[in-house]
Amino acid sequence: MSIDLSVNVGSLALHNPLMTASGCSGYGKELAAYDDLSWLSAIVGKSISREPRLGNPYPRTCETPSGMINAIGLPNEGWESYTRNTLPLMRELVRGKPTKIVLNIVGHDLDEYTWVAERANDESDIAAVELNLSCPNVAGGLQFSTTADGCEKLVKAVRKVLKLPLIAKLSPNVTSVADIARAAEAAGADSLSLINTVLGMNVDWRKRKALVANGMGGLSGPAIKPIALRCVYEACKAVKIPVIGIGGICTADDVLDFMVCGASAVQLGTVLFVEPDAPQRIARDLKERMREAKVEKLSSLIGTLRAREGA
Ligand code: SIN
Repeated sequence: MSIDLSVNVGSLALHNPLMTASGCSGYGKELAAYDDLSWLSAIVGKSISREPRLGNPYPRTCETPSGMINAIGLPNEGWESYTRNTLPLMRELVRGKPTKIVLNIVGHDLDEYTWVAERANDESDIAAVELNLSCPNVAGGLQFSTTADGCEKLVKAVRKVLKLPLIAKLSPNVTSVADIARAAEAAGADSLSLINTVLGMNVDWRKRKALVANGMGGLSGPAIKPIALRCVYEACKAVKIPVIGIGGICTADDVLDFMVCGASAVQLGTVLFVEPDAPQRIARDLKERMREAKVEKLSSLIGTLRAREGA
């Protein structure tokens, strides 16, 4: 039985549903040391801003039961260095492979987001732009993702200048994911990705200290998968544009759980810290699971969750 793992996220044709989640594997070089990047359909790089940023003080990460907390603070080299040094390297890494480059961008305000988005149009080999409007670790990081109005304003401003496919990355730290998803769609996003991390905290009571210097941070890993599934399911019910699922995905079964809830593709994040060659295992297992279930086309499973009787 021939198995077809290809999926489409709007105009983005992917040979399999496995992308990296921004911030969890740099810009691809770190993973290439462990595995063939062809197992991934896209590398989503760490957020890039107009100016370089140093990020938050250390420690920036700590472990939690079934997850981790990060308060990295969006450190990056800034647009100029990114296009001069890192993007050319990414192009080399994916040359001849089916793996696409997705640029994740961030800004302090509308002006910075649109400045970067406008320049992305002129760079070859960027398949799509993911808007990080949901970082919980910097002042103002959630200003565009916690109200429908804020989200709509930002997505609209970026849409106006960006010619590439636009993915809006949403936060779970909101009252109604559906409202924010609808706002992003109305403002012109081509697809959504969710969830970014869940606001959390971890402490050492003996030292009377929080375990990341920022105090609070974003929780990721298997601990958040049920929250992510719920958010993806709600977003998929609210919008017509495709949704990319993120949150604690470690196995092929996790991928399939997200896809039956409506996700067209997924991003792998925290799992890459413990198993940088997880994409290969997950892609192989996906084929195995589909063979067992006698499903030829992965895309045929998208959104097939049976609603509870009476729901
Ligand atoms: C960070 O750099 O603090 C994490 C990025 C994010 O959560 O969007």
